[in-house]
Order: sequence, then C-alpha cells, then structure tokens
Amino acid sequence: MQNGKPIVKDVYWVGVNDRRTALFEGIWPIPLGVSYNSYLIVDEKTVLIDTVKDLSVNGYLNKLKQMLGPDRQIDYLVINHLEPDHSGALPIIKRVFPNIRIVGNRKTAEFLKDLYGVPDIHLVQDGEELRLGRRTLQFFLTPMVHWPETMMTYETTDGILFAGDAFGGFGALEGGIFDDEVDLDYYENEILRYFSNIVGKYSPMVQKAIQKLSDVDVKIVASTHGPIWRTDPGHIIRLYDRWSRHEAEPGVVVVFGSMYGATEKMAEAVERGVADGGVKTIRAHNISTSHVSYVIRDAWRYQGLILGSPTYDTGLFPPMESLLRLLCSKKLSNRSAGVFGSYGWSGGAVKALKQFVEDGKLGLVEPVVEARFAATSEQLERCRALGRAMAERVRRDER
Ligand code: FEO
Repeated sequence: MQNGKPIVKDVYWVGVNDRRTALFEGIWPIPLGVSYNSYLIVDEKTVLIDTVKDLSVNGYLNKLKQMLGPDRQIDYLVINHLEPDHSGALPIIKRVFPNIRIVGNRKTAEFLKDLYGVPDIHLVQDGEELRLGRRTLQFFLTPMVHWPETMMTYETTDGILFAGDAFGGFGALEGGIFDDEVDLDYYENEILRYFSNIVGKYSPMVQKAIQKLSDVDVKIVASTHGPIWRTDPGHIIRLYDRWSRHEAEPGVVVVFGSMYGATEKMAEAVERGVADGGVKTIRAHNISTSHVSYVIRDAWRYQGLILGSPTYDTGLFPPMESLLRLLCSKKLSNRSAGVFGSYGWSGGAVKALKQFVEDGKLGLVEPVVEARFAATSEQLERCRALGRAMAERVRRDER
C-alpha cells in the first residue's frame, strides 16, 4: 500500500491500487491492476475529491488520518462520479467523518438517495465555485463521461483538473504516480484499452467536455484512474481527443473465429496479403482465445478491421457475435472493414458480417470471400487479395 503523496503543497493523492480484482466491472480483465485515485485538499476547509472502491478501505482511512492528523475532520466530499469504484468507501467515510458535506449536482443527489440513502447534499450548478480558504474549486458538469452525473472539479490556484473517469486508464500505479515518474509506454496500451472499453461509447460527450474546458488553464490532470499528468497534461488530453474523434493509426486488425481450422487458414492468407501490401502493423486475434477487450482496443487504434467467421447454427460463430455486439454498442466508426468466412451445410456467417459492416457504415473493402468446408487455392488467393486491398486502403488513407 502506497502512502499518500503530495501533488502540490496541501493537495494529496490518497488513492489505492487494486491488484485483487480479476475483472473490472465483472467483464474486463485487469492483469496489470487498476488504481482508484482519490484526492485530499487541506485548506481552511478540508475536501476529499471522490473516494475509492470498497476494498483496501482501512489503508485508505489510514492514509487520510496520516495527512489530516488524528483529530481534523473532512468538511466536504466532492463526488465527480458516483460509480461504486469511486464511491464504495462513501458509507464508511460518512461514519468516520459524520459532519462531512457531500458536494454534487442534481443528478448526483438523485442517484445518491437510491444508492446510499443519502437524503441531501450541497448542490452545485455548472460553473459554480466553492471557496476553501486560499483555494477555490470550480465545477464543470460533463454528463455521460461516463454516467449522467459526471462532473469535473477544477482547482483554480494550481490549475488541477480532477477529471473523474476522463483521461484515466487501467494499470495500478507501480510506485510512481506522475507522468514523469512512470513508464508511459507500459501504461499507454492499458489507457487505450480502458478508454475503448469503458468510455469510448461516450466519445461525443468526451468531445463536448474537451470543448467546454478548452479555455480552462489546466496544469495538472488528475483522473480517477492511472497516472497524474503534471509534466505534459496536454498529452493525455490529445490522446483522448484523438480517440474520441475515432481517428485511427495505420495498421490492420484481423479477427477470426475457427472451430476446425478452415477459417484460421483463410485468416492467415488475409494476413499474408496485408503484409504483401506493405503494411507492417498487423494485429491478429483468434476471438476464442483473445479477450474481447484487447480486440476492441486494437480495433479502436487501427484503421483496417478484417473479420472472419465460420457459420455456427446457421449464423455467426458466437464469440464473434459477441464481439460485434460490443463493437456496435461502443459505436466504433470511421474504419475500413473486410469480411470472410466459411460454412458447411448452411451459410450465414459472412452475410451477418456484411450486415454489421453496412449497419456500422464502415467502408467495405472487397473481395468478400466465402468458402464451403475448406477454402480452395483460388479462395485462398482471394483472401490474399482482400489483405492486399486493405493494405492499399490503409496506405492511401495515410497519405
Ligand atoms: Fe471509474 Fe465510471 O467509474
């Protein structure tokens, strides 16, 4: 358990790492863990910004006592986001600091009643300020980044933006907590996996939030997950800006399902074609063995997406169906897509893949390749042609 750590004088990170939970939200693997960042401001008034999940609560309370001393109380708890990974410790915080006043907006108040039976809070409007003594907090409502009540809190003296889930990522904080203290290459894939799986669906609202804050002088970005950005806060804002615009990097993702190897053989021919077409960045996933969260991450990063599925029960292979449902729900757009697949006694998978491409308004790259039982050498050549055509599309878009 890390000790609390000052971000600037009298403002402390008091978050906790979670290396015990296997699946975030019960869905998404977090092999590198995750941090729940909470912050304490000590001024004439003391303020806690968000809490943590209901684990490591004793360590969390110890940290708060260490920063506050044994007797000092906390005056306010600002709730930027009420999801239980940030509010799970709220009931115990209320018991330990019985006079604490919860600060939130009208939606926060509505949800708090149902979630924790809290009858009333200190309500704030968009743009409203709260004076703490030397410091002032200003609140910006940023709904649907990631729930309707989400807001951001801006500390005006040092320019700290307490951003809620925005600008966050998976990955426990391995000792360092600041962008200049950690290996950003280690974190960046996990930040994108977090963005694409958790926040990506709400990209238009991320764009609105970035626009809303464009005139605010943000010197430090302090999210509820992942590193705190004090040396280059613009870096994480630019990444979130790019990802939420659905801008892609050159590269091709090939995702396939295969029961007995026929579709996998086609996938390998497609991959060969992409390489022959001059694209080196190829990410191949067997949908039966790659967790969907990694596939979604790569689909969010790269321009080309090629999907291959065998037919199962006259339709899509179920793991592929599950991936497509999620990609549809996440509203991935602005991608070029190719499809291929196989069938035995009944077709259906390739038709469903084409429908997905059409419904998502993705740009179809041809040829579409469909094989019965096992691809012939001509059909494998068409798979290579699909790969080459996708490579050409990606390279053209790069120019
Ligand atoms: Fe980290 Fe939407 O909670």
